Amino acid sequence: MKILVIGGGGREHALAWKLKQSPRVERIFCAPGNAGTAEIGENVAISASDLPGLVRFAKENRVDLTVVGPDDSLAAGIVDLFAAADLRIFGPTKAAARLESSKIFAKELMREQGIPTAQAGTFERSDDALRFCDRLRFPVVIKADGLALGKGVIIAPDCAVARSTIDEMINQGRFGEAGRRVVVEEFLRGTECSLHALVDGANYRLLQTARDHKRAFEGDTGPNTGGMGAFSPANNWNAELEDQFHKKIMGPLLRGLHEKRITFRGLLYPGLMISADGARVLEFNCRFGDPETQVILPRMKSDLLPLLEATIDGKIDSPKASSIEWDRRPAVTVVLASGGYPGKYETGKSISGLGKAAELDGVQIFHAGTKRINSEIVTSGGRVLAITALGSTLEAARARAYEAVSRIHFENCHYRRDIALSAGYG
Ligand SMILES: Nc1ncnc2c1ncn2[C@@H]1O[C@H](COP(=O)(O)OP(=O)(O)O)[C@@H](O)[C@H]1O
Ligand SMILES: [Mg+2]
Repeated sequence: MKILVIGGGGREHALAWKLKQSPRVERIFCAPGNAGTAEIGENVAISASDLPGLVRFAKENRVDLTVVGPDDSLAAGIVDLFAAADLRIFGPTKAAARLESSKIFAKELMREQGIPTAQAGTFERSDDALRFCDRLRFPVVIKADGLALGKGVIIAPDCAVARSTIDEMINQGRFGEAGRRVVVEEFLRGTECSLHALVDGANYRLLQTARDHKRAFEGDTGPNTGGMGAFSPANNWNAELEDQFHKKIMGPLLRGLHEKRITFRGLLYPGLMISADGARVLEFNCRFGDPETQVILPRMKSDLLPLLEATIDGKIDSPKASSIEWDRRPAVTVVLASGGYPGKYETGKSISGLGKAAELDGVQIFHAGTKRINSEIVTSGGRVLAITALGSTLEAARARAYEAVSRIHFENCHYRRDIALSAGYG
């Protein structure tokens, strides 16, 4: 089989790496890929947003299955385009991807179905939004409706910040069209957990849990990033929460989609806030998480390919897909970023030590913002690498990941030293 993976981050390298291990996979293309995917497949110089270009490539090269990484390709309707061209693709349609691409759509569906989530209002006029803030207790959370590269959520500690944020989003177009409408919601306290489910339209199967670290600096301080590290399994999840998750979240969600005549096929990843009274949905994502994928897939022993196929074919409940085998060992991934990220940063820095780090037992290096120039691998993005390690305990996995990190060097490398440190992650 020939597979095309769309995207060029650590998640896509992990997907390509895992799919490459499937006995039926002969060739893997990545568009646009990175220096890591180039080592296991062939990079194709087509951007993840050039949908007609991707359709053309898949047709001309007789690609058997395309797997989509990034949210914006899904929101732009890549799955609908591929399906119209009779091409097999893994991911939700544009209509189903609205669960992620419109926080208002998701919120309304949750309200209709009684899915536990933060109390919220949705607004397109700033004065209405402000009046609603007054009814909540500060801090309040203000969210741009649309996709905003993970920067569209602001936690406003007081009325002044709420006022300026709402004004910037709705009236000044700080996030363009994505912020013209906003969700204002109550601030939830607790710890976060990422769930990943393969949803085949009617049924679903859960993958292992994970937790990520979104803030740039240690102790969960600094601005939000795409994610600075993750670990799996989550230490705040249990059988009771899982039971509740099936009954109060996934069941009603699928019912709500069905009522709207929307079929969701693909990876659904709800972000949850867990507090004393259970799990509540912060948001729905419609694709694999980054960097969660970099800790979930190294723990998956089963072949990923038949699971993706069963999801597309509405057969995730079939015996073939029914049991996913997992490595019981925990995994930790540490993201190495360019100094300055998520703000301004320089690229083109030479990376050394990748070979030495990869020699360590149980270590897997996933590339994100990297590219090869002649014999050198250089940085080309904000998040550069994700260094994953498995270990007999979380502490062992963590120690091994940091041992690998210590062998890798590039100018202005920034990473958090407290990934998967249990303090503060009760
Ligand atoms: N209601 C809330 N209460 C507390 N924290 C929140 C709330 N909503 C979002 N957050 C925080 O903001 C982060 C980003 O919000 P999220 O809804 O996941 O949007 P996105 O991932 O699209 O930026 C969450 O991971 C969480 O840390
Ligand atoms: Mg999120």
